[in-house]
Amino acid sequence: MDGPDERAETGPAPRVREAYEDWVGASPDAVAVAPGRVNLVGGHVDYNGGVVLPAPIDRTTAVAVGARPDSQLRVRSLAFDETVTAPLASVPDGWAAYVFGAVAALAEPDRDTEDGERPGAGVAPSGLEVVVASDVPLGAGLSSSAALCVATVGVADALWTRRAADTPGGRRRLSCESVAEIAWRAETEFVGTDCGIMDQLTSACGQAGHALRIDCRDRTVSSVPMPDDAALLVADTTVAHELRDGDYDERVAECREAVARLDEALDRPVESLRDVSPDEVAAHADRLGDPYAARARHVTTESDRVDEAVSALEAADLTRLGGVMTEAHRSLATDYAVSCAEVEAVVAGLTATDGVYGARMVGGGWGGSVVALTDPDATETAGRAARERCERETGVTPDVYETRVGDGLRVER
Ligand code: GLA
Repeated sequence: MDGPDERAETGPAPRVREAYEDWVGASPDAVAVAPGRVNLVGGHVDYNGGVVLPAPIDRTTAVAVGARPDSQLRVRSLAFDETVTAPLASVPDGWAAYVFGAVAALAEPDRDTEDGERPGAGVAPSGLEVVVASDVPLGAGLSSSAALCVATVGVADALWTRRAADTPGGRRRLSCESVAEIAWRAETEFVGTDCGIMDQLTSACGQAGHALRIDCRDRTVSSVPMPDDAALLVADTTVAHELRDGDYDERVAECREAVARLDEALDRPVESLRDVSPDEVAAHADRLGDPYAARARHVTTESDRVDEAVSALEAADLTRLGGVMTEAHRSLATDYAVSCAEVEAVVAGLTATDGVYGARMVGGGWGGSVVALTDPDATETAGRAARERCERETGVTPDVYETRVGDGLRVER
């Protein structure tokens, strides 16, 4: 199994720099690196306005940029070995949509961010040469698209700020919260995915060695240290699922319907499932009906589990934290119905292994990855158990590796 240290040396930042130099014939003006994430607890809570507990990982996406004299964006992906060239304001199909969407969202002239920063202020957006490399696997539930959008917003923001240095008033670099907000706009408004903001805030604001407590309603982020004696394993089922496939949007719509029904049933306004307790969902289960009662039960009980997980983490109580993670998984599999046979086999293999505190699926669902919290001495046996069980039950071999809690967005010259 790959350890985190071996991978760090082969991360995508040096590759993207070298590829940029070969391709453009000059050094990039800036390189940004942004991580993927695992979600310890708080599945499908972000778009319901709740609190989540994710952590950035040491798998990252690197984006190198340089200015162009025209208003074209020329983007090269090392993973796809493809180049897409189009005017700045357009959003082509496929992987390039995330890069174009991120630049377009950053260049919007008249939009403020929630913390009052003006992304488009002070500089006319220039055309860009962009090279992208990543070791966040695609469709694995580890938030590769957020990492790409966050790195792109971060790097273009750095470049345009530098170019504005000589203009009156200049331009300030965006805060990590604003970078996340613009990256989220790129995905929701330009690419067209109805996702929450957890992934973008984690990728932009992460801090090495820390999980993040994110309030997705007021978008505040605080970090909680991960204990040194905890290891994190990622088991990627290799069953890819794209958020754009439609099932995710169906869950978002079901939650909206549950909110509408609870708003009628309760004698106070309900704006999101954040405003409702598990007891209230139970009391109005008939009125909510199927599947809305089950969906609302997952979201409201998951919010309680996040509180429990945060206090377990603060107390460095890994047994309690792991227990909450496994409970969260059961709720996702039953009430939220977003699991699949491969994920179930991996979770069963992991949780039956000594030294594993808990395991749960991450990301949108229907495939992707599972994260397990384990004793550092148990990673080999746990990985083997996950692989064997999944192979035996489904014929699929998951890719299992240890991950370290990495840093959030960083921009290098
Ligand atoms: C995907 C979305 C996130 C979040 C998770 C489920 O990763 O991008 O916004 O909703 O699914 O927790």
